[in-house]
Amino acid sequence: MQEKRPLVEALEKFHNLRSISFHVPGHKNGLLSNLPNVMKETMQYDFTELNGLDDYHHPIEAIKEAEDLLSITYGTQKSFFLVNGTTVGNLAMIYATCQFGEQIIVQRNAHKSIFHAIELVGAEPIFVTPEWDERTKTASYVSYEVMQKAIEQFPAAKAVVLTYPSYYGVTSFQLKSIIDLCHTKDIPVLVDEAHGAHFQANRAFPKSALMYGADLVVQSAHKTLPALTMGSFLHISSTLIDANRVNKYLRMLQSSSPSYLLLASLDDARSYVERYNEMDFKQFMYRRNLFVEALNTITQLEVVQVDDPLKLLIRVENYSGFQIQRALEAQNIYVELADTYQVLFILPLLKVEQEYAFAEIRKRIKHAVDELRKEVPISPRKGSSVRQKSISTLHMSVSLLSEKQGEWIPYVRSMGRIAKAMIIPYPPGIPLVLAGEKITVSMLTELEEWIEKGALFQGEHRLEEKLIYVVED
Ligand SMILES: Cc1ncc(COP(=O)(O)O)c(C=O)c1O
Repeated sequence: MQEKRPLVEALEKFHNLRSISFHVPGHKNGLLSNLPNVMKETMQYDFTELNGLDDYHHPIEAIKEAEDLLSITYGTQKSFFLVNGTTVGNLAMIYATCQFGEQIIVQRNAHKSIFHAIELVGAEPIFVTPEWDERTKTASYVSYEVMQKAIEQFPAAKAVVLTYPSYYGVTSFQLKSIIDLCHTKDIPVLVDEAHGAHFQANRAFPKSALMYGADLVVQSAHKTLPALTMGSFLHISSTLIDANRVNKYLRMLQSSSPSYLLLASLDDARSYVERYNEMDFKQFMYRRNLFVEALNTITQLEVVQVDDPLKLLIRVENYSGFQIQRALEAQNIYVELADTYQVLFILPLLKVEQEYAFAEIRKRIKHAVDELRKEVPISPRKGSSVRQKSISTLHMSVSLLSEKQGEWIPYVRSMGRIAKAMIIPYPPGIPLVLAGEKITVSMLTELEEWIEKGALFQGEHRLEEKLIYVVED
């Protein structure tokens, strides 16, 4: 079972037929493409739903077999391969559990795809604010007490949506009790586990939310496993969820021409997890720990270790994360993200036989830090991030918002106004301001800080002109 990769095998078999293509895609197995040769070669495997390759939206052969293996590996009732990332998984989870006008309890620092889903469905979000974690200087998990209060206040909520682990690899020791609490009220718990697909690889990683009883869990296989970008898993493990409904929305929201390269990479990623053994994990931890030790010998550099050993936070005393990022990029080292305090490294989930040039990388990081120290420091603010009420709702519903006129005003004059559009520092893609929220002093302080430190933004904004979009007075 471990060695089986039904989709990879089906693709190889089909490729070996050297068949004549009178079908889509138009590149005809790469022949018509002007892309560089390596890319053209890969296109020879970019097939479509042909006989022998199954049907993505009604799988009965290789895709079904591969998804069944995924379900076994992760111990679920039913699992799916997703070709539009965790983004589409989040959309499907929310469509499958709530409808227009219904309440849904959602962690305030969720990914934008969750808020988009809520907006599309027209559900009424109840926000629960996560705790501020001083060690990692990030918003982490929602406490049991806050969840308990939210459920008491909003017992009609159709679902609870949590993010676990956080982007920065922080987990929650209260997750199980929160899930148990929700289940006593028959409220399903949907978990955006975009950053936890690898947890299943070894017992010593933090546990997946699936192990704690979460009903629906989405994981970006492409973030931490060897899957192509956009490849994710969606798992169902629940008596509270109608699997047919989830499936129906996945069929509606995803392409009818899935990329087989992507699907095969998901099959391979599943097999990678399955075959990841104790020796692999031990070796990974050994090399990682040596790397951490080596980094700690660099003057002024601080390594913050988090719950997930695949992630490291790197700080340099008196310098912002954006400055560190630029200095590392000058040495051709690219990090996952920077914030005002630090940069985030995602390490490779190495197996015994795989190499990573940690010693050489350490040298380059040292050089980057030496160069950085010649720059004027932009010390990060010492305070914490956006402080919000532990439970809140939108000041104006999204449906009402769409009927209102908007206007662009200088953000320094926007306190107390209702935002007409989201402002999303990217990465991490967690909205600082949501459409329909009242703009507060702490939001503006945070916004100024992101701008000052050179962050990039998504959403509807004109921050280059210092303007934001609000509801007309
Ligand atoms: C917490 C979280 N959820 C969802 C997503 C979206 O995932 P994907 O890129 O797989 O669509 C991201 C992406 O960064 C994320 O960090």
